[in-house]
Amino acid sequence: MNDLIYFILVIGALLVVASVLQPLAERLRLPHSVLLAAVGVAIAVGSVTLLQTKEPRMISEAAAAIADMSFSSSTYILVFLPALLFQAALTIDVRRMMEDAAPILLLAVVAVFVATGVIGLAIWPLTGVPLVVCLLLGSIVATTDPAAVIAIFRDIGAPARLVRLVEGESLLNDAAAIAIFYVLLEMIVSGDDPDLLKGAWDLAVDLGGGTILGIVAARLAVSVIPLLRGSRTAEVTLTLALPYLIFVSGDHFLGVSGVVAVAVAGLVFGAGSRSRLSPSGWAYLDAVWEQVAFLAGSLVFILASLMVPKLLVNVSLHDGFLLLVLIAAALVARALVLFLLLPPLTLLKLSAKISNSYKLVLTWGGLRGAVTLALALSVTEARGIDGEEQRLVTVLATGFVLFTLFVNGTTLRLVIKLLGLNRLSPLNQALRSQVLALSLADVRDSIQQTAVEYEFPPTVSRAIQKPYEARIAEVTSAGSLEERISDRDRITLGLISLANRERQLVLEHHGLQTVPGDIIEALLRNAGEIYDGARTGGRIGYNRAARKILRLPRAFRFAYSLHRWTGVETPLARQVSKRFDKFLVRRLVLDELIRFNSRSLKPLLGERVSLLLGEVLSGRMEASSKALDALELQYPDYAEALSQRFLRKFALRQEMLRYESLFDDGLIGQELFEDLRRGVESRRRLADRRPKLDLKLDKVALIAQVPLFNGLEQKDMARLARILRSRLALPDQTFIRTGDRGNAMYFISSGAVEVVLQDRRIRLGRGDFFGEMALLDGGPRRADVVALTYCTLLELRSGDFKKFLKANPHISELIDQVAKQRSVKLVA
Ligand code: CMP
Repeated sequence: MNDLIYFILVIGALLVVASVLQPLAERLRLPHSVLLAAVGVAIAVGSVTLLQTKEPRMISEAAAAIADMSFSSSTYILVFLPALLFQAALTIDVRRMMEDAAPILLLAVVAVFVATGVIGLAIWPLTGVPLVVCLLLGSIVATTDPAAVIAIFRDIGAPARLVRLVEGESLLNDAAAIAIFYVLLEMIVSGDDPDLLKGAWDLAVDLGGGTILGIVAARLAVSVIPLLRGSRTAEVTLTLALPYLIFVSGDHFLGVSGVVAVAVAGLVFGAGSRSRLSPSGWAYLDAVWEQVAFLAGSLVFILASLMVPKLLVNVSLHDGFLLLVLIAAALVARALVLFLLLPPLTLLKLSAKISNSYKLVLTWGGLRGAVTLALALSVTEARGIDGEEQRLVTVLATGFVLFTLFVNGTTLRLVIKLLGLNRLSPLNQALRSQVLALSLADVRDSIQQTAVEYEFPPTVSRAIQKPYEARIAEVTSAGSLEERISDRDRITLGLISLANRERQLVLEHHGLQTVPGDIIEALLRNAGEIYDGARTGGRIGYNRAARKILRLPRAFRFAYSLHRWTGVETPLARQVSKRFDKFLVRRLVLDELIRFNSRSLKPLLGERVSLLLGEVLSGRMEASSKALDALELQYPDYAEALSQRFLRKFALRQEMLRYESLFDDGLIGQELFEDLRRGVESRRRLADRRPKLDLKLDKVALIAQVPLFNGLEQKDMARLARILRSRLALPDQTFIRTGDRGNAMYFISSGAVEVVLQDRRIRLGRGDFFGEMALLDGGPRRADVVALTYCTLLELRSGDFKKFLKANPHISELIDQVAKQRSVKLVA
């Protein structure tokens, strides 16, 4: 009982320390982990000293409690690791990360192997322990903790893509290193001769199995979310349980890597649930997890550093020498990967170009963190490893972590400064003063207004305004933005702000819950691409990224082929309807962006630049409107249904907001509020259902629309319906390509196409047909035929063509005639 009380007291006290150190770390501009480790070591040393004191008893008891404070090694792994990994994965934007999947995977996995190998081989000849043990040490120290580097990168405005690369790499290298660690540990403990083949196979099973487990479990959890009906506490509880359940079942029951499973599950869950949860729900989840990771990380650091004095009791000079070798080997391994492996990737365009200064920072900033410590401590109790080997691994790994924290961690900012990476670019500097000047001017004006409203004497308001005037003069003294940076740079700046604003606007729509989550996700992804495009490629990059959304997504193309080959219509209808939704929101967002440009960017960037930005936006607007108009033209009823749905959901959200404020103000009671909420929820669920889109591909209706078939008798009509197939052509789709073999001809039931001849284009519409020439003479297609709008077509395939002509002599004659006329024109 007493033990438990001391335990609680000590943990409580340590958490107080962790909490106080956080603002201090910010103040000193040091990574939090560095301070935690320093204080942890100090407390441990202090408590060892205090142990000697006899009086007062309380102090020596507390000191004893701290000195004895040790967890079993499995606690580190079981309690802290799943939470740390899951949170790291959860916050990564997987879809953006996938764009850099190749370099991230390569860096993460290859880097871990390189580090394990280089470090193991460097240490091995200098110690008397077997190579596997040295490799084990290598795998423990192979994983880097990105928190410190990323915090600084964010501070200095490093490229977003670089930050993602570092985050992704470090998450996956944790998973890979731990998997390797376990395979090596298994080899050592089993005492068998190291068998490389078996090791590789075990590793593959571990990694592959872990990945599958992670995906399946996370998908399952994502599908449970709707059942929780928007209860934030329930959602968070589910995610808290998830990593632990996965970890234990992977490691202990399924024989696959639990860490890999947890990391993958975090990624998949994050990607799948971000748009399924309400924005406030996601923010809540994110915040809780940040807190959990903070607690876990802080405790690991302090608890591990408390063990340091004990570990270092028997340290010899030789250990110090080994540590130096280890440090050098780790730096070499990291530099090898960054300087040798990255350049070819950049050449192959698989990775963004990373400048040498950033590579140096990444090499030096490879701090080791909680994961390394947790692994190092877990070795202390591993059965089957000889005591001296255990000691060596733990001492070296812990020493190494401390070195990276105390040496690299404290000098990282200095290195960044020496490399000049902390300097704001002239562009950002100029922008900052411009933004400052504008907002200071706003403040000054509102002081003036308030003073008038409250009838303060002018002397009062002038006194308060004065310092603002001075600051405005100071920031504008360097000249206006127009004088200081070139038009081109200002355009880039403007485009970046537009992209940022676009992201916010899409998120606002998400907040209003008017648009389905998957549409929001697609728009957000595109906004991110646009942002990166503007940063790296200016206007061209911006436009190129913006056009991406016009392309047909893979799922659309798949649904289209499915319809083509099997006639199954539902998935295609769904995809067309999603496209509708996407462009609907896109148009709204563009409208708002155009206003944002004239209202906020014009005063900032000047008339000329704002005009140009306006042009870029109207270009996008035109493309989006064209896509939307094409849809509206073909499916006007559906366009209306979708707009109605949009407005209905907006109305529901407004209704809910009203109820919430009535409830908050105490005007309605809990019971009534719940009742109203349930009502809105159930109506929302109805509104959430995507209205079914009729693609209007019903064959009989299509046949009736073609005048050519009007005079046919009932039985001919029925036969016709059997051999014809309905098809949908999409705007701008090249439906027939010159030179191809002809396998079908088409009758147009609705929409319009263009036949592209060498010198002109011929438009065909409802009732016309095309593609007959190649069927008649067996030759190649004579021209391209491009759809102008969505078209519904009836397809007559070459196998049925002869039969059809024989059965319908009138039509056959007509087709013949038209084809002859056309070929005359072609020759002419
Ligand atoms: P085919 O050669 O099978 O594929 C291209 C089609 O374009 C062709 O059949 C005709 O249906 C159509 N086409 C070719 N020339 C003309 C033309 N001068 N006017 C209208 N349609 C044409």
